[in-house]
Amino acid sequence: MKTVLITGANRGLGLAFCQYYLAENWHVVACCRHPDSSTALLALAEASPHLRIEALEVTDFAQIDALGAKLSGIPIDILINNAGIYPDTASNALGHVDYAAWQQAFLVNTLAPVKLTETMLASLHLGRDKLIVCISSLMGSITDNTSGGSSYYRSSKAALNAVMKNLSLSLQKDAVGVLILHPGWVKTDMGGANALIDADVSVRGMGQVIKEFTLTQSGQFINYDGKILPW
Ligand SMILES: NC(=O)c1ccc[n+]([C@@H]2O[C@H](COP(=O)([O-])OP(=O)(O)OC[C@H]3O[C@@H](n4cnc5c(N)ncnc54)[C@H](OP(=O)(O)O)[C@@H]3O)[C@@H](O)[C@H]2O)c1
Repeated sequence: MKTVLITGANRGLGLAFCQYYLAENWHVVACCRHPDSSTALLALAEASPHLRIEALEVTDFAQIDALGAKLSGIPIDILINNAGIYPDTASNALGHVDYAAWQQAFLVNTLAPVKLTETMLASLHLGRDKLIVCISSLMGSITDNTSGGSSYYRSSKAALNAVMKNLSLSLQKDAVGVLILHPGWVKTDMGGANALIDADVSVRGMGQVIKEFTLTQSGQFINYDGKILPW
């Protein structure tokens, strides 16, 4: 059985990824900030012996190190850096920039995925798939940006894309792959009720892209339906 580690696994796309990989008969390490109150995950764990819940606040790098030590020696096939935040508000325009909120966006959306990659690399080397998946956003595309706004979110995802493209090149020699995915506009707490697709549709699409991944695609920015996206 293969193993996937998912961050932000208690709701939205992270929870849908847990359901998807359990249905595919994988071991799932589901990371969330508050396991005791993650009722959807606890219900899944009750129904499946293949789900392991771990506490993880992704901005707490000591906690990431401790998780790495706890999982040491256990093969992880796929790491899914899914946890993310959208801290922009209408009142954050120039003249009212909230630099603390912007820093937090970079910490959660950009630096934490790198720290998780760095920490879980030894376990990924033990796995068969050796794949790092980052849930980015088309809003991180500079080419696609024709409407402006959302500077904190856009810039943190653009930086995630840049650093993950970089890592894909340095990890290629070790046959470790990196996939940068846009999930679509998805009905979650972040995407809102007007979004275009349900989380299970998005995750089924991304699951197929992940299944068909080959190292030649490492570092590409890909939509949930398999289309290559512009930087
Ligand atoms: N929904 C969309 O339309 C859309 C579009 C493009 C990209 N994305 C990306 O897809 C990913 C998942 O988004 P979603 O729509 O599922 O969002 P969501 O419903 O808001 O869920 C976000 C998840 O991230 C977790 N999280 C946030 N900050 C965290 C932290 N500091 N430490 C640990 N976990 C943290 C949340 O945990 P708590 O419950 O503890 O807050 C939650 O599990 C994000 O990276 C997002 O940027 C979403």
